[in-house]
Amino acid sequence: MRVSIIGGGGLVGSCAAFALQCGGIVSGLDLIDVNADLCKGQALDLLHGASLIADQRIRAVGYEAIPESDLVMITAGLRRKPDESRLDLINRNVELFLGILGNVKGAGLKKDAIVLVVSNPVDVLTYLALGQLGLPASQVIGLGTALDTARFRSLISEAVKLPPTQVTALILGEHGDSMVPIWSAAQAAGLPLDKFPGWSSSQADALFTRTKGSGAEVIKLKGGAGFAVGMAIREVVHAVALDSRRILPVSSLVSGIYGMRDVCTSVPTVVGRGGVLGQVEIELWGKEISALQQSSRVLRETIDLVLKGNPKAAGKPAPASSKPAAVAAPASKPVRVTMGAGGGGNGSGSSRVTISGIGNGNGNGHGKVTGGR
Ligand SMILES: NC(=O)c1ccc[n+]([C@@H]2O[C@H](COP(=O)([O-])OP(=O)(O)OC[C@H]3O[C@@H](n4cnc5c(N)ncnc54)[C@H](O)[C@@H]3O)[C@@H](O)[C@H]2O)c1
Repeated sequence: MRVSIIGGGGLVGSCAAFALQCGGIVSGLDLIDVNADLCKGQALDLLHGASLIADQRIRAVGYEAIPESDLVMITAGLRRKPDESRLDLINRNVELFLGILGNVKGAGLKKDAIVLVVSNPVDVLTYLALGQLGLPASQVIGLGTALDTARFRSLISEAVKLPPTQVTALILGEHGDSMVPIWSAAQAAGLPLDKFPGWSSSQADALFTRTKGSGAEVIKLKGGAGFAVGMAIREVVHAVALDSRRILPVSSLVSGIYGMRDVCTSVPTVVGRGGVLGQVEIELWGKEISALQQSSRVLRETIDLVLKGNPKAAGKPAPASSKPAAVAAPASKPVRVTMGAGGGGNGSGSSRVTISGIGNGNGNGHGKVTGGR
């Protein structure tokens, strides 16, 4: 699978490229950036290491590479200032983003290409990309809360002194100030986090507050996030490349899940070669669902402001559920799935979930959602 990174000369784009190089799974990495020399330098530096890792084609290119790309990632953008909210960034970033979308459209995307939006404010820009590119909703993904979730897990693991990969916890909703910690799903080594000795609600609050402020903390210390966001991007890109159908907290168009609609926001999302193959509505605490709904209202208000101030940004995304679901379960039909290690549990831990299809209409999706992958 060939990946192009628009903004590939920058911190996020180059870290994503390096993470994908180390992953050795995608076959090609094309870096595109208005800063041509920086872009060439990043591509050359990556190329120098190619013989040590994997047989990937690495180039600094222009938009002529887009028609060959299976996944087009957009990381170009202006960085957040330390005291600026992600949503404040929008006024500075929308114009730039629309220009990039115009270039991508002009170059011509592959029919089944996946577009991964990373630039901030990522949920709003993902929504704009859907409207502008005219792709099925399944083919446009925003990085959403993937990075916040990774940060959350790492910070929790540090606090409870457990290996980071043994902590599972989730952040959903906006990649921004209204993000929602899903404590109801927090576990360490498969055990409920809140049962660990010494665990307290004040510790939980402090960890979430630090997670929410992590972007600003990193910006203050080193100018911007790079390594962790690169790894979060890699997880999403590999889920597409390998068609692994991992359930990831990424942003996509929602049409009713948890009572939210007509925004792009992060919910548990099945990601595979077709992009967004489904969204999993699993039972959460009532206050978590209310917070998600509030977060989607914040996003909707911002989208409305953007559309008002930028007539060029108008363009309605195709409704997510207007076509047959890529997951075989009919949209909104409750099914039982097991969300446990390896997905092979005896059902005792199964939960009631709804899988919302967001398919591209090719009907080739798998019908099962299993945990632990
Ligand atoms: N979604 C997330 O979790 C997340 C995390 C971190 C950063 N970000 C966002 O990623 C974006 C990039 O951050 P960064 O730290 O890499 O910034 P950066 O300044 O290091 O890199 C941005 C790159 O974009 C390029 N660029 C600007 N306009 C362009 C255009 N029209 N076409 C092509 N390239 C263009 C610049 O030359 C630069 O190399 C920001 O919007 C930032 O807020 C998102």
